[in-house]
Amino acid sequence: MEQVRQLVLHFLSSREVLFVRQTLVCHPLGQTKACSTTTFLVPMSKVYDISLTLPDDQKVTLQVDENTFILDAAAKAGLDLPHTCLQGWCLTCAGQVIDRPATCIDNSAALRYYPEDQEGGFVLLCTAKPRQNCHLVTHQAWAMKIYRRKRGRPTPGGKPMFDGLP
Ligand code: FES
Repeated sequence: MEQVRQLVLHFLSSREVLFVRQTLVCHPLGQTKACSTTTFLVPMSKVYDISLTLPDDQKVTLQVDENTFILDAAAKAGLDLPHTCLQGWCLTCAGQVIDRPATCIDNSAALRYYPEDQEGGFVLLCTAKPRQNCHLVTHQAWAMKIYRRKRGRPTPGGKPMFDGLP
């Protein structure tokens, strides 16, 4: 508790506005898990505006801190974006940044993400953490798979999402 008080005082003295992030933290406890909601205070300088354009052209802007995956922030905001593996592998959650390359996103948590993906503006939202304000288009799984295939990079053969792909 003293650490929290010190942290709050530090940010207040630096006149930095805080963003409150609540995360469900689970720890293994025997055969089960013990979960609790933990509150983090994040300086606003590390919170970014992430604008999403959905397939119906609807635009949504989320505030996402640098330690939160964009897919999680979207889910918390009530957006049901596509996802499957949640590990940065299957491409189901792919999005594409409007201004390429996708340097506004850190995708280093993905199990499989290539430099070419970043050059093409593709990101995997399940493992994407913001590093700047960013505008991206969601539902780009097929486009990312085709993009990778054209560059000789491996793509998951998951079904049925990619059935019929040339
Ligand atoms: S859900 Fe599989 S890569 Fe994101």
